Amino acid sequence: MRGGRFGADLDRAMRDLNASVDFDWRLFAEDIRGSQAWAEALRAAGLLSEGEADRIREGLRSIEEDILAGRFQFSRDQEDIHMNVEAALVERIGPAGEKLHTGRSRNDQVATDLRLFVKAASKSAAVEAAGLIAELAAAARRELEVVVPEYTHLQRAQPVLLAHHFLAYVEMLIRDRGRFLHARDAADVCPLGSGACAGNQFGIDRELLRQKLGFRELSRNSMDAVSDRDFVADYLYAAAMLMVHLSRLAEDLILWSSAEFGLVRLDDAVTTGSSMLPQKRNPDAAELARGKAGRVVGCLVGLLTVLKGLPLTYNKDLQEDKEGLFDAVDTLKAVLPVMRLLVKTLRVDRSRAAALLKGGYLEALGVADYLTRAGLPFREAHRVAGAAVRRAEALGVGLPELPLSEYKALSPKFGPDLHQAIRLEGALARNDVPGGTAPARVRAEVARLVREFPPFAEGPPGPQD
Ligand code: ARG
Repeated sequence: MRGGRFGADLDRAMRDLNASVDFDWRLFAEDIRGSQAWAEALRAAGLLSEGEADRIREGLRSIEEDILAGRFQFSRDQEDIHMNVEAALVERIGPAGEKLHTGRSRNDQVATDLRLFVKAASKSAAVEAAGLIAELAAAARRELEVVVPEYTHLQRAQPVLLAHHFLAYVEMLIRDRGRFLHARDAADVCPLGSGACAGNQFGIDRELLRQKLGFRELSRNSMDAVSDRDFVADYLYAAAMLMVHLSRLAEDLILWSSAEFGLVRLDDAVTTGSSMLPQKRNPDAAELARGKAGRVVGCLVGLLTVLKGLPLTYNKDLQEDKEGLFDAVDTLKAVLPVMRLLVKTLRVDRSRAAALLKGGYLEALGVADYLTRAGLPFREAHRVAGAAVRRAEALGVGLPELPLSEYKALSPKFGPDLHQAIRLEGALARNDVPGGTAPARVRAEVARLVREFPPFAEGPPGPQD
Protein backbone atom coordinates (compact mmCIF):
# COMPACT_ATOMS: atom_id res chain seq x y z
CA MET A 1 0.00 0.00 0.00
CA ARG A 2 2.95 2.38 0.72
CA GLY A 3 5.01 1.26 -2.29
CA GLY A 4 4.26 4.20 -4.53
CA ARG A 5 3.63 7.32 -2.51
CA PHE A 6 5.99 6.96 0.42
CA GLY A 7 9.75 7.06 0.65
CA ALA A 8 10.16 5.70 4.16
CA ASP A 9 8.56 3.06 6.35
CA LEU A 10 5.90 3.78 8.89
CA ASP A 11 7.27 4.44 12.37
CA ARG A 12 6.89 1.39 14.60
CA ALA A 13 4.83 3.11 17.28
CA MET A 14 2.61 4.57 14.58
CA ARG A 15 2.26 1.13 13.04
CA ASP A 16 1.03 -0.24 16.34
CA LEU A 17 -1.37 2.63 16.88
CA ASN A 18 -2.70 2.35 13.36
CA ALA A 19 -3.09 -1.40 13.19
CA SER A 20 -6.49 -2.88 13.97
CA VAL A 21 -5.85 -6.49 13.04
CA ASP A 22 -5.40 -7.45 16.71
CA PHE A 23 -9.16 -7.07 17.07
CA ASP A 24 -10.69 -6.82 13.59
CA TRP A 25 -9.39 -10.27 12.62
CA ARG A 26 -12.77 -11.32 14.04
CA LEU A 27 -14.35 -10.01 10.86
CA PHE A 28 -12.47 -12.50 8.69
CA ALA A 29 -15.51 -14.56 7.67
CA GLU A 30 -17.50 -11.45 6.74
CA ASP A 31 -14.48 -9.96 4.96
CA ILE A 32 -13.92 -13.05 2.86
CA ARG A 33 -17.60 -13.36 2.10
CA GLY A 34 -17.59 -9.74 0.91
CA SER A 35 -14.50 -10.33 -1.23
CA GLN A 36 -16.03 -13.41 -2.81
CA ALA A 37 -19.05 -11.36 -3.83
CA TRP A 38 -16.81 -8.54 -5.03
CA ALA A 39 -14.77 -10.90 -7.23
CA GLU A 40 -18.00 -12.20 -8.69
CA ALA A 41 -19.17 -8.66 -9.49
CA LEU A 42 -15.79 -7.81 -11.05
CA ARG A 43 -16.06 -10.88 -13.23
CA ALA A 44 -19.61 -9.96 -14.24
CA ALA A 45 -18.35 -6.48 -15.19
CA GLY A 46 -15.63 -8.02 -17.37
CA LEU A 47 -12.85 -6.79 -15.08
CA LEU A 48 -11.69 -10.30 -14.19
CA SER A 49 -11.46 -13.27 -16.51
CA GLU A 50 -13.21 -16.47 -15.56
CA GLY A 51 -9.85 -17.99 -14.65
CA GLU A 52 -8.82 -15.05 -12.48
CA ALA A 53 -12.13 -15.11 -10.64
CA ASP A 54 -11.70 -18.83 -10.02
CA ARG A 55 -8.20 -18.35 -8.64
CA ILE A 56 -9.41 -15.58 -6.34
CA ARG A 57 -12.30 -17.68 -5.14
CA GLU A 58 -10.03 -20.62 -4.38
CA GLY A 59 -7.37 -18.40 -2.79
CA LEU A 60 -9.92 -16.76 -0.47
CA ARG A 61 -11.32 -20.15 0.43
CA SER A 62 -7.89 -21.48 1.39
CA ILE A 63 -7.20 -18.37 3.48
CA GLU A 64 -10.45 -18.84 5.37
CA GLU A 65 -9.61 -22.48 5.93
CA ASP A 66 -6.22 -21.54 7.36
CA ILE A 67 -7.70 -18.89 9.64
CA LEU A 68 -10.29 -21.34 10.94
CA ALA A 69 -7.57 -23.90 11.55
CA GLY A 70 -5.45 -21.35 13.44
CA ARG A 71 -2.68 -21.62 10.83
CA PHE A 72 -2.91 -18.09 9.49
CA GLN A 73 -0.29 -15.55 10.57
CA PHE A 74 -1.89 -12.15 11.03
CA SER A 75 0.56 -9.29 10.71
CA ARG A 76 0.39 -5.77 12.10
CA ASP A 77 2.47 -4.66 9.16
CA GLN A 78 -0.62 -5.35 7.07
CA GLU A 79 -2.65 -3.08 9.36
CA ASP A 80 -6.10 -4.64 9.34
CA ILE A 81 -8.06 -7.74 8.40
CA HIS A 82 -8.72 -6.42 4.90
CA MET A 83 -5.04 -5.91 4.03
CA ASN A 84 -4.04 -9.15 5.74
CA VAL A 85 -6.41 -11.16 3.59
CA GLU A 86 -5.50 -9.28 0.42
CA ALA A 87 -1.74 -9.62 0.99
CA ALA A 88 -2.12 -13.34 1.64
CA LEU A 89 -4.19 -13.67 -1.50
CA VAL A 90 -1.52 -11.98 -3.64
CA GLU A 91 1.11 -14.15 -2.03
CA ARG A 92 -0.87 -17.28 -2.83
CA ILE A 93 -2.22 -16.63 -6.31
CA GLY A 94 -0.05 -13.83 -7.70
CA PRO A 95 -1.25 -11.19 -10.20
CA ALA A 96 -4.96 -12.10 -10.15
CA GLY A 97 -4.95 -11.25 -6.44
CA GLU A 98 -3.69 -7.76 -7.23
CA LYS A 99 -6.88 -7.11 -9.22
CA LEU A 100 -9.31 -7.87 -6.39
CA HIS A 101 -9.33 -4.34 -4.96
CA THR A 102 -10.33 -2.79 -8.31
CA GLY A 103 -12.96 -0.10 -7.69
CA ARG A 104 -13.21 -0.99 -4.02
CA SER A 105 -12.09 0.86 -0.91
CA ARG A 106 -11.56 -0.44 2.57
CA ASN A 107 -14.18 2.13 3.46
CA ASP A 108 -17.04 0.31 1.74
CA GLN A 109 -15.37 -2.98 2.58
CA VAL A 110 -15.30 -2.45 6.34
CA ALA A 111 -18.83 -1.05 6.35
CA THR A 112 -19.97 -4.21 4.56
CA ASP A 113 -18.13 -6.51 6.97
CA LEU A 114 -19.51 -4.71 9.97
CA ARG A 115 -23.08 -4.76 8.70
CA LEU A 116 -22.89 -8.51 8.11
CA PHE A 117 -21.47 -8.92 11.61
CA VAL A 118 -24.12 -6.75 13.29
CA LYS A 119 -26.91 -8.55 11.45
CA ALA A 120 -25.77 -11.90 12.81
CA ALA A 121 -25.07 -10.55 16.31
CA SER A 122 -28.50 -8.91 16.49
CA LYS A 123 -30.20 -12.11 15.51
CA SER A 124 -28.27 -14.13 18.11
CA ALA A 125 -29.11 -11.61 20.80
CA ALA A 126 -32.80 -11.69 19.86
CA VAL A 127 -32.75 -15.47 20.13
CA GLU A 128 -30.96 -15.33 23.49
CA ALA A 129 -33.45 -12.78 24.78
CA ALA A 130 -36.28 -15.08 23.74
CA GLY A 131 -34.60 -17.86 25.73
CA LEU A 132 -34.63 -15.78 28.89
CA ILE A 133 -38.21 -14.72 28.23
CA ALA A 134 -39.19 -18.39 28.03
CA GLU A 135 -37.40 -19.11 31.31
CA LEU A 136 -39.12 -16.24 33.11
CA ALA A 137 -42.50 -17.29 31.74
CA ALA A 138 -41.82 -20.83 32.96
CA ALA A 139 -40.89 -19.49 36.41
CA ALA A 140 -44.10 -17.47 36.45
CA ARG A 141 -46.08 -20.63 35.70
CA ARG A 142 -44.26 -22.58 38.42
CA GLU A 143 -44.93 -19.92 41.05
CA LEU A 144 -48.46 -19.05 39.98
CA GLU A 145 -49.82 -19.55 43.51
CA VAL A 146 -47.28 -17.37 45.29
CA VAL A 147 -48.36 -13.95 46.55
CA VAL A 148 -45.68 -11.49 47.62
CA PRO A 149 -45.64 -7.93 48.85
CA GLU A 150 -44.68 -5.68 45.96
CA TYR A 151 -42.58 -2.63 46.65
CA THR A 152 -42.51 0.99 45.68
CA HIS A 153 -39.60 3.01 47.07
CA LEU A 154 -38.47 -0.38 48.40
CA GLN A 155 -41.32 -0.12 50.96
CA ARG A 156 -43.98 -2.80 51.02
CA ALA A 157 -46.88 -1.49 48.95
CA GLN A 158 -49.43 -4.01 47.62
CA PRO A 159 -49.86 -7.76 47.34
CA VAL A 160 -49.16 -9.13 43.87
CA LEU A 161 -48.54 -12.50 42.35
CA LEU A 162 -44.85 -13.32 42.14
CA ALA A 163 -45.65 -14.43 38.58
CA HIS A 164 -46.74 -10.88 37.82
CA HIS A 165 -43.32 -9.68 38.94
CA PHE A 166 -41.57 -12.14 36.63
CA LEU A 167 -43.82 -11.13 33.76
CA ALA A 168 -42.85 -7.49 34.25
CA TYR A 169 -39.34 -8.51 33.17
CA VAL A 170 -40.81 -10.53 30.33
CA GLU A 171 -42.38 -7.34 28.97
CA MET A 172 -39.06 -5.50 29.15
CA LEU A 173 -37.26 -8.34 27.43
CA ILE A 174 -39.85 -8.58 24.68
CA ARG A 175 -39.15 -4.92 23.90
CA ASP A 176 -35.40 -5.60 24.04
CA ARG A 177 -35.86 -8.40 21.58
CA GLY A 178 -37.75 -6.01 19.31
CA ARG A 179 -34.84 -3.57 19.52
CA PHE A 180 -32.42 -6.27 18.38
CA LEU A 181 -34.71 -7.12 15.50
CA HIS A 182 -34.72 -3.44 14.60
CA ALA A 183 -30.91 -3.32 14.81
CA ARG A 184 -30.80 -6.26 12.45
CA ASP A 185 -33.02 -4.42 9.97
CA ALA A 186 -30.96 -1.25 10.31
CA ALA A 187 -27.79 -3.18 9.44
CA ASP A 188 -29.48 -4.93 6.54
CA VAL A 189 -28.33 -2.44 3.88
CA CYS A 190 -25.54 -3.14 1.38
CA PRO A 191 -22.86 -0.42 1.25
CA LEU A 192 -20.54 -2.28 -1.11
CA GLY A 193 -19.92 -0.37 -4.34
CA SER A 194 -19.71 2.97 -2.54
CA GLY A 195 -15.92 3.06 -2.92
CA ALA A 196 -13.94 5.49 -0.79
CA CYS A 197 -16.89 7.89 -0.71
CA ALA A 198 -18.20 8.66 -4.21
CA GLY A 199 -19.42 5.41 -5.74
CA ASN A 200 -17.97 3.12 -8.37
CA GLN A 201 -16.54 4.09 -11.74
CA PHE A 202 -16.56 0.63 -13.32
CA GLY A 203 -20.32 0.30 -13.43
CA ILE A 204 -20.23 -2.53 -10.91
CA ASP A 205 -23.56 -4.35 -10.48
CA ARG A 206 -24.48 -3.39 -6.94
CA GLU A 207 -27.72 -5.33 -7.14
CA LEU A 208 -25.69 -8.49 -7.76
CA LEU A 209 -23.59 -7.68 -4.68
CA ARG A 210 -26.70 -7.11 -2.61
CA GLN A 211 -28.15 -10.46 -3.61
CA LYS A 212 -24.89 -12.36 -3.10
CA LEU A 213 -24.47 -10.93 0.39
CA GLY A 214 -28.10 -11.33 1.37
CA PHE A 215 -28.84 -7.70 2.18
CA ARG A 216 -32.40 -6.44 2.05
CA GLU A 217 -31.62 -3.23 0.17
CA LEU A 218 -28.88 -1.06 -1.30
CA SER A 219 -27.51 2.02 0.41
CA ARG A 220 -28.79 5.11 -1.38
CA ASN A 221 -25.91 7.49 -0.74
CA SER A 222 -22.26 6.47 -1.01
CA MET A 223 -21.08 9.04 1.53
CA ASP A 224 -23.60 8.00 4.16
CA ALA A 225 -22.77 4.37 3.40
CA VAL A 226 -19.07 4.66 4.26
CA SER A 227 -19.28 7.09 7.13
CA ASP A 228 -22.22 6.31 9.39
CA ARG A 229 -22.26 3.69 12.09
CA ASP A 230 -25.73 4.32 13.45
CA PHE A 231 -26.56 0.65 12.87
CA VAL A 232 -23.81 -0.24 15.36
CA ALA A 233 -25.26 2.27 17.81
CA ASP A 234 -28.68 0.66 17.31
CA TYR A 235 -27.22 -2.69 18.31
CA LEU A 236 -25.38 -1.18 21.26
CA TYR A 237 -28.46 0.65 22.48
CA ALA A 238 -30.45 -2.59 22.34
CA ALA A 239 -27.60 -4.30 24.18
CA ALA A 240 -27.27 -1.55 26.79
CA MET A 241 -31.02 -1.45 27.44
CA LEU A 242 -31.15 -5.23 27.75
CA MET A 243 -28.27 -5.14 30.22
CA VAL A 244 -29.99 -2.40 32.23
CA HIS A 245 -33.07 -4.62 32.44
CA LEU A 246 -30.97 -7.63 33.41
CA SER A 247 -29.26 -5.48 35.99
CA ARG A 248 -32.58 -4.64 37.61
CA LEU A 249 -33.62 -8.29 37.59
CA ALA A 250 -30.23 -9.12 39.09
CA GLU A 251 -30.74 -6.51 41.80
CA ASP A 252 -34.13 -8.00 42.71
CA LEU A 253 -32.61 -11.45 42.96
CA ILE A 254 -29.67 -10.21 45.04
CA LEU A 255 -32.04 -8.53 47.49
CA TRP A 256 -34.45 -11.44 47.59
CA SER A 257 -31.69 -13.95 48.23
CA SER A 258 -30.41 -12.04 51.25
CA ALA A 259 -31.39 -13.44 54.65
CA GLU A 260 -33.28 -10.21 55.30
CA PHE A 261 -35.71 -10.92 52.47
CA GLY A 262 -35.16 -14.66 52.29
CA LEU A 263 -37.63 -14.94 49.45
CA VAL A 264 -35.50 -16.97 47.06
CA ARG A 265 -32.58 -19.34 47.17
CA LEU A 266 -30.16 -19.24 44.26
CA ASP A 267 -28.85 -22.58 43.11
CA ASP A 268 -25.36 -23.83 44.01
CA ALA A 269 -24.53 -23.88 40.29
CA VAL A 270 -24.72 -20.09 40.13
CA THR A 271 -23.59 -19.22 43.64
CA THR A 272 -20.02 -18.69 44.80
CA GLY A 273 -18.24 -19.06 48.12
CA SER A 274 -16.11 -16.71 50.16
CA SER A 275 -12.38 -17.31 50.56
CA MET A 276 -12.62 -16.27 54.20
CA LEU A 277 -16.18 -16.70 55.43
CA PRO A 278 -17.27 -20.33 55.31
CA GLN A 279 -20.98 -19.60 55.64
CA LYS A 280 -21.27 -17.36 52.56
CA ARG A 281 -23.25 -18.11 49.40
CA ASN A 282 -22.66 -15.11 47.20
CA PRO A 283 -24.90 -14.12 44.28
CA ASP A 284 -21.93 -13.35 42.00
CA ALA A 285 -23.82 -14.31 38.84
CA ALA A 286 -26.38 -11.60 39.44
CA GLU A 287 -23.77 -9.12 40.63
CA LEU A 288 -21.74 -9.63 37.46
CA ALA A 289 -24.82 -9.08 35.31
CA ARG A 290 -25.42 -5.86 37.24
CA GLY A 291 -21.78 -4.82 36.95
CA LYS A 292 -21.42 -5.64 33.29
CA ALA A 293 -24.42 -3.47 32.48
CA GLY A 294 -22.13 -0.50 33.15
CA ARG A 295 -19.62 -1.86 30.73
CA VAL A 296 -22.13 -2.22 27.89
CA VAL A 297 -23.56 1.24 28.54
CA GLY A 298 -19.93 2.40 28.22
CA CYS A 299 -19.66 0.73 24.80
CA LEU A 300 -22.71 2.65 23.59
CA VAL A 301 -21.54 5.98 24.97
CA GLY A 302 -18.04 5.35 23.59
CA LEU A 303 -19.33 4.87 20.06
CA LEU A 304 -21.70 7.84 20.14
CA THR A 305 -18.82 9.98 21.35
CA VAL A 306 -16.55 8.77 18.53
CA LEU A 307 -19.24 9.63 15.97
CA LYS A 308 -20.36 13.00 17.18
CA GLY A 309 -17.69 15.30 15.74
CA LEU A 310 -16.77 13.52 12.53
CA PRO A 311 -16.84 15.43 9.27
CA LEU A 312 -18.09 13.44 6.31
CA THR A 313 -17.06 10.96 5.15
CA TYR A 314 -14.76 8.19 6.41
CA ASN A 315 -12.26 9.11 9.11
CA LYS A 316 -9.90 6.75 10.87
CA ASP A 317 -11.71 7.47 14.12
CA LEU A 318 -14.26 5.00 12.78
CA GLN A 319 -11.82 2.18 13.42
CA GLU A 320 -12.80 2.71 17.07
CA ASP A 321 -16.27 1.36 16.30
CA LYS A 322 -15.26 -2.27 16.68
CA GLU A 323 -13.84 -3.08 20.09
CA GLY A 324 -16.86 -1.78 21.98
CA LEU A 325 -19.15 -3.69 19.66
CA PHE A 326 -17.19 -6.91 20.09
CA ASP A 327 -17.04 -6.38 23.83
CA ALA A 328 -20.80 -5.90 24.04
CA VAL A 329 -21.42 -8.99 21.89
CA ASP A 330 -19.10 -11.06 24.10
CA THR A 331 -20.64 -9.69 27.28
CA LEU A 332 -24.16 -10.60 26.19
CA LYS A 333 -22.98 -14.04 25.17
CA ALA A 334 -21.47 -14.58 28.60
CA VAL A 335 -24.28 -13.10 30.70
CA LEU A 336 -27.50 -14.29 29.06
CA PRO A 337 -27.03 -18.06 29.48
CA VAL A 338 -26.13 -17.56 33.15
CA MET A 339 -29.18 -15.37 33.75
CA ARG A 340 -31.27 -18.07 32.15
CA LEU A 341 -29.81 -20.66 34.49
CA LEU A 342 -30.27 -18.34 37.46
CA VAL A 343 -34.00 -18.04 36.73
CA LYS A 344 -34.41 -21.70 35.82
CA THR A 345 -32.90 -22.94 39.10
CA LEU A 346 -34.41 -20.33 41.40
CA ARG A 347 -36.21 -21.74 44.47
CA VAL A 348 -38.91 -19.65 46.05
CA ASP A 349 -39.51 -19.90 49.80
CA ARG A 350 -43.30 -19.87 49.91
CA SER A 351 -43.64 -19.73 53.68
CA ARG A 352 -41.31 -16.74 53.73
CA ALA A 353 -43.47 -15.07 51.07
CA ALA A 354 -46.50 -15.61 53.31
CA ALA A 355 -44.64 -14.18 56.30
CA LEU A 356 -43.57 -11.08 54.37
CA LEU A 357 -47.22 -10.44 53.52
CA LYS A 358 -48.10 -10.21 57.21
CA GLY A 359 -46.00 -7.17 58.04
CA GLY A 360 -46.25 -3.89 56.23
CA TYR A 361 -49.98 -3.13 56.65
CA LEU A 362 -50.72 -4.17 53.08
CA GLU A 363 -54.46 -4.10 53.93
CA ALA A 364 -54.40 -0.30 54.31
CA LEU A 365 -55.59 0.42 50.77
CA GLY A 366 -58.37 -2.14 51.33
CA VAL A 367 -59.49 -0.20 54.39
CA ALA A 368 -59.57 3.06 52.42
CA ASP A 369 -61.37 1.39 49.49
CA TYR A 370 -63.95 -0.06 51.94
CA LEU A 371 -64.77 3.46 53.11
CA THR A 372 -64.79 4.76 49.55
CA ARG A 373 -67.34 2.11 48.62
CA ALA A 374 -69.33 3.18 51.70
CA GLY A 375 -69.50 6.70 50.21
CA LEU A 376 -66.53 8.55 51.72
CA PRO A 377 -64.43 10.72 49.37
CA PHE A 378 -61.12 8.92 48.79
CA ARG A 379 -58.97 11.59 50.42
CA GLU A 380 -60.97 11.30 53.64
CA ALA A 381 -60.94 7.51 53.44
CA HIS A 382 -57.15 7.69 53.00
CA ARG A 383 -56.85 9.75 56.20
CA VAL A 384 -59.00 7.36 58.22
CA ALA A 385 -57.13 4.31 56.94
CA GLY A 386 -53.83 6.03 57.77
CA ALA A 387 -55.11 6.62 61.30
CA ALA A 388 -56.05 2.94 61.53
CA VAL A 389 -52.48 1.98 60.59
CA ARG A 390 -51.15 4.34 63.19
CA ARG A 391 -53.44 2.82 65.82
CA ALA A 392 -52.49 -0.74 64.82
CA GLU A 393 -48.83 0.17 65.00
CA ALA A 394 -49.30 1.63 68.50
CA LEU A 395 -51.03 -1.56 69.63
CA GLY A 396 -48.40 -3.74 67.94
CA VAL A 397 -50.87 -5.59 65.73
CA GLY A 398 -51.63 -5.87 62.03
CA LEU A 399 -54.73 -4.37 60.44
CA PRO A 400 -56.56 -7.73 60.35
CA GLU A 401 -56.06 -8.05 64.15
CA LEU A 402 -57.26 -4.55 64.97
CA PRO A 403 -60.71 -4.98 66.58
CA LEU A 404 -63.80 -3.55 64.90
CA SER A 405 -64.34 -1.24 67.90
CA GLU A 406 -61.04 0.48 67.12
CA TYR A 407 -62.09 0.98 63.52
CA LYS A 408 -65.51 2.24 64.54
CA ALA A 409 -63.88 4.81 66.80
CA LEU A 410 -62.26 6.25 63.66
CA SER A 411 -65.38 6.18 61.44
CA PRO A 412 -69.00 5.09 61.85
CA LYS A 413 -68.93 3.75 58.28
CA PHE A 414 -67.02 0.63 59.34
CA GLY A 415 -69.25 -2.43 59.66
CA PRO A 416 -68.91 -6.08 60.68
CA ASP A 417 -67.95 -7.10 57.10
CA LEU A 418 -64.74 -5.03 57.31
CA HIS A 419 -62.29 -7.79 58.25
CA GLN A 420 -63.55 -9.99 55.47
CA ALA A 421 -63.39 -7.10 52.99
CA ILE A 422 -59.75 -6.25 53.63
CA ARG A 423 -58.36 -9.73 53.11
CA LEU A 424 -55.38 -9.65 50.75
CA GLU A 425 -56.82 -12.36 48.50
CA GLY A 426 -59.70 -10.00 47.78
CA ALA A 427 -57.38 -7.07 47.14
CA LEU A 428 -55.40 -9.18 44.73
CA ALA A 429 -58.45 -10.41 42.83
CA ARG A 430 -59.92 -6.91 42.57
CA ASN A 431 -56.99 -5.77 40.37
CA ASP A 432 -59.03 -7.17 37.56
CA VAL A 433 -58.06 -4.94 34.67
CA PRO A 434 -55.92 -5.68 31.63
CA GLY A 435 -52.36 -5.64 32.95
CA GLY A 436 -53.50 -6.06 36.58
CA THR A 437 -52.34 -8.69 39.04
CA ALA A 438 -55.72 -10.44 39.49
CA PRO A 439 -54.87 -14.17 39.34
CA ALA A 440 -57.21 -14.79 36.41
CA ARG A 441 -55.47 -12.05 34.42
CA VAL A 442 -52.00 -13.28 35.29
CA ARG A 443 -52.92 -16.87 34.50
CA ALA A 444 -54.08 -15.81 31.05
CA GLU A 445 -50.87 -13.85 30.47
CA VAL A 446 -48.72 -16.76 31.60
CA ALA A 447 -50.57 -19.11 29.26
CA ARG A 448 -50.14 -16.70 26.34
CA LEU A 449 -46.44 -16.15 26.98
CA VAL A 450 -45.59 -19.80 27.56
CA ARG A 451 -47.26 -20.53 24.23
CA GLU A 452 -45.44 -17.70 22.45
CA PHE A 453 -42.05 -18.45 24.00
CA PRO A 454 -41.57 -22.21 24.28
CA PRO A 455 -38.63 -23.54 26.34
CA PHE A 456 -35.26 -22.79 24.83
CA ALA A 457 -33.57 -26.11 24.22
CA GLU A 458 -30.90 -25.71 21.57
CA GLY A 459 -28.05 -23.20 21.67
CA PRO A 460 -28.09 -19.87 19.86
CA PRO A 461 -27.49 -19.86 16.10
CA GLY A 462 -24.01 -19.59 14.64
CA PRO A 463 -22.35 -16.36 13.51
CA GLN A 464 -23.87 -16.55 10.01
CA ASP A 465 -27.60 -16.16 9.68
N1 ARG B 1 -9.25 -0.69 9.57
C1 ARG B 1 -10.10 0.33 9.04
C2 ARG B 1 -11.32 0.48 9.93
O1 ARG B 1 -11.56 -0.33 10.71
C3 ARG B 1 -10.54 -0.03 7.66
C4 ARG B 1 -10.86 1.13 6.79
C5 ARG B 1 -9.63 1.91 6.52
N2 ARG B 1 -9.84 2.86 5.49
C6 ARG B 1 -8.92 3.78 5.23
N3 ARG B 1 -9.18 4.57 4.26
N4 ARG B 1 -7.85 3.94 5.94
O2 ARG B 1 -12.05 1.44 9.85
